[in-house]
Amino acid sequence: RTRARVNSAIRASMEQQGFVEIETPMLIASTPEGARDFVVPSRHSPGSFYALPQSPQLFKQLAMVGGIDRYYQIARCLRDEDLRADRQFEFMQLDMEASFATQDDILEFVSEAICDAAEAVTGERPGEIPRMTWHEAQERYGSDKPDVRFGMELTEMSDIFEGTEANVFKVPCVKGILYEGGAESLGRNAIDALTDKCKRWGAKGLAWFRVGEGGALDGALTKFMSEAELAAVPERLGAKQGDMVLIIAAERRTVNHVLGLLRLELGRPPVNEGGFHFLWVTEFPLFETVSDAGNPVPAHHPFTMPHVDDVGLLESAEGDEYLDIRSQAYDLVLNGWELGSGSVRIHRPDIQAKIFETLGIGAEEAQLKFGFLLDAFKYGAPPHAGFAFGIDRLAALLAGEENIREIIAFPKTQSGADPLTNAPTAIDPDHLDELGLRVLPPSS
Ligand code: AMO
Repeated sequence: RTRARVNSAIRASMEQQGFVEIETPMLIASTPEGARDFVVPSRHSPGSFYALPQSPQLFKQLAMVGGIDRYYQIARCLRDEDLRADRQFEFMQLDMEASFATQDDILEFVSEAICDAAEAVTGERPGEIPRMTWHEAQERYGSDKPDVRFGMELTEMSDIFEGTEANVFKVPCVKGILYEGGAESLGRNAIDALTDKCKRWGAKGLAWFRVGEGGALDGALTKFMSEAELAAVPERLGAKQGDMVLIIAAERRTVNHVLGLLRLELGRPPVNEGGFHFLWVTEFPLFETVSDAGNPVPAHHPFTMPHVDDVGLLESAEGDEYLDIRSQAYDLVLNGWELGSGSVRIHRPDIQAKIFETLGIGAEEAQLKFGFLLDAFKYGAPPHAGFAFGIDRLAALLAGEENIREIIAFPKTQSGADPLTNAPTAIDPDHLDELGLRVLPPSS
């Protein structure tokens, strides 16, 4: 019933904002969302396969070229990925796209639909959804999907340890968090377990200090630290007697990543506590990593517009410098869950060609994979932007559930099986013949 209320509120909201519902096909060629496709063999062309849509991405962009300037769909999407609490093979998105729309317009359209849905379930309308850049989210929370229901923010300390004598802190970045009351609640075993986790997450270790009377630090590393350092650390964090100071020292990316996870480990409230804290995270990086071949890999998808101030960097960047290029992509976050993603799209052929070149996708390959979209763009694509959020995730959080299975009728188990119908099952040999398929024994 919660889910039905969410769907109905979203539909009414989008209609009211002038969006047109278009149903896009399920049997298609591959879409560029980056997961594995589920495929369907074709009887008419044995040996050929349809892909099931990972999202309606390319179709909605075609709709923009076709003159539908506000599209939406409550769309079923399918991705063959490992299942987790917030992932199923098939899931529902509120998918939308608008022409002549800026990032601000999209954030407003989606905020309206989200607030309508939340109000329909809880009876309370969330206030205006705050915004934060990706960079700020990383620096303050060590995450691109910060759970802002609680504080425990990452605090800069690199300046305190400039010129330090302590080898552990002779690194590019030092940051810490304050665990209030932790001096008593965290025993030696708990600290050892946390240290192991920090190592697994990529740090060399965890520097920890109990805070005593007058802010005095107590811990194995104090003997290597100067008076000034010993005074500055508790002061910077506002630490008081009984607290625990936890510090990570490493490369900046590692420090933020590890402290972000540590913060969640120590402070994250249960899913059904702390209210609903929506957050827009903007200016995502354009690229996620750089491949061994030296080509950057898109963080969202290859149709995402670079940040206006960073377009020039596409020409000059090399190696890891690509990771500093910002995009016009944004996410919506709720209580530390990624609820949705979107971007302003590239509608200019010259920028699109540059992106494909940068990604190492040749003109021929681009034509083969996305030719139908690129050809359509030749007829004049309006500037456009869009978004999609996961309805299963929204409904689960609104219902206070930490696994989306709880709000899905007939969900799959963790291993992807349907215990009700026993799917997936073998099929009849005649059927296989018709499809031109032969099943091999599993490779060991
Ligand atoms: P993206 O791939 O980020 O963006 O997906 C959008 C949202 O869909 C939900 N989601 C899932 N929910 C449950 N199970 C899954 N396996 C799963 N995968 C994704 C998440 C996610 O934030 N076409 C772009 C959007 C755009 O650019 O307009 C897209 O699909 O809540």
